[in-house]
Amino acid sequence: MLINIWFNNLSSRALAIALVLCVVVVYFSYSFNACLFASISRTLQKSNLRNFLAPLTVTRTDNATTTNNNNNNRNNNASNNSRGSGNNTSTTSSSNNNTHNTNFSSNYNINNISVDSPLTGHDGAPKYQLLRQQGLRPSRHLPDTLIIGVKKSGTRALLEFIRLHPDVRSAGSEVHFFDRHYQRGLRWYRHHMPYTIEGQITMEKTPSYFVTKEVPQRVYHMNTATKLLIVVRDPVTRAISDYTQAASKKTDMKRFEELAFVNGSYSVVDTNWGPIKIGVYARYLERWLLYFPLSQLLFISGERLIIDPAYEIGRVQDFLGLKRVVTEKHFYFNATKGFPCLFKSEARSTPHCLGKTKGRNHPHIDTNAIERLREFYRPFNNKFYQLTGINFAWP
Ligand code: A3P
Repeated sequence: MLINIWFNNLSSRALAIALVLCVVVVYFSYSFNACLFASISRTLQKSNLRNFLAPLTVTRTDNATTTNNNNNNRNNNASNNSRGSGNNTSTTSSSNNNTHNTNFSSNYNINNISVDSPLTGHDGAPKYQLLRQQGLRPSRHLPDTLIIGVKKSGTRALLEFIRLHPDVRSAGSEVHFFDRHYQRGLRWYRHHMPYTIEGQITMEKTPSYFVTKEVPQRVYHMNTATKLLIVVRDPVTRAISDYTQAASKKTDMKRFEELAFVNGSYSVVDTNWGPIKIGVYARYLERWLLYFPLSQLLFISGERLIIDPAYEIGRVQDFLGLKRVVTEKHFYFNATKGFPCLFKSEARSTPHCLGKTKGRNHPHIDTNAIERLREFYRPFNNKFYQLTGINFAWP
């Protein structure tokens, strides 16, 4: 009878129905969510997406670490260098000793940077599995060493030769970070670097770095301990090589002699013409020496790299603190090419020469023009010998 009275009350009946509906909705949404989470969890386990997601969250720390390290380096240098006088007494100048592992890893925290990988996808690739089993985790690093130039002096040959070393890994192509893509930031740059494991050197080559005004300071800000490799060649031959390359891309190119001199006579050299300008090495080197001590720079003779590649590569390995693994056994002279070519292993398998764009035939240049250019470069060459402490004996 009481129930009857209660149900007769219209508003109470509506309340009861709403209550039942609520209970039903809560029950169904709970069941639905439980199913959904179970399904997501199964998918994650299968596709290894967990590995993918985890590093993404840590990468920010990685960036912060890099920045901090760079800041530290900058601070160290700010207090230790007297840039104006060119007497760079960088705290990292000890990097010239055979201690590249210690030095390089002290600038970049390998563990932090290794989490770089959405990349972990590649990390799990079969070729890295053996390394992972041994507890080694391949990761991308900013370069420890740069081949900064000089264009048309043998920079590609140097890179091809030194990367025969198992402890050297390099970016495939010229990245042009410090001259063209600087605004993209170090993270972008690092993503262009190859995977390395602890103890391996990361290298990059962009020959225009040597002559681009802003680059020394930018490299310094990335890492004051960066080692710099510079291949140099007789500036007259270099200019002709540069011209030959440009002419190969442009059919109606003027003759070298017309471009190298002002007003058609051989009296005034056109120092604004790129191929001539780049050969004034001393001028560019002075800028680098404002930021880096000479001990962090290694000069490689472009001429000797052709005559005796094993000798020059031996020097490079010493400079980088590497065991001398690349030796004369890796080279042979290819008479057809007219240049040294290489074996990819000591077992003399897979012979390999540089491509067609390296070792071109040069056009004949008037000997009077060449003589005049030699005269023009002589004082600059002498200055360069003085700055480097090396007499390259260019004619
Ligand atoms: P040429 O093509 O004018 O002969 P870069 O790699 O800096 O552009 O330099 C190119 C130059 O490297 C070539 O200029 C060539 O003289 C020189 N070189 C040095 N060693 C070489 C090699 N083993 N094979 C081909 N070219 C080499």
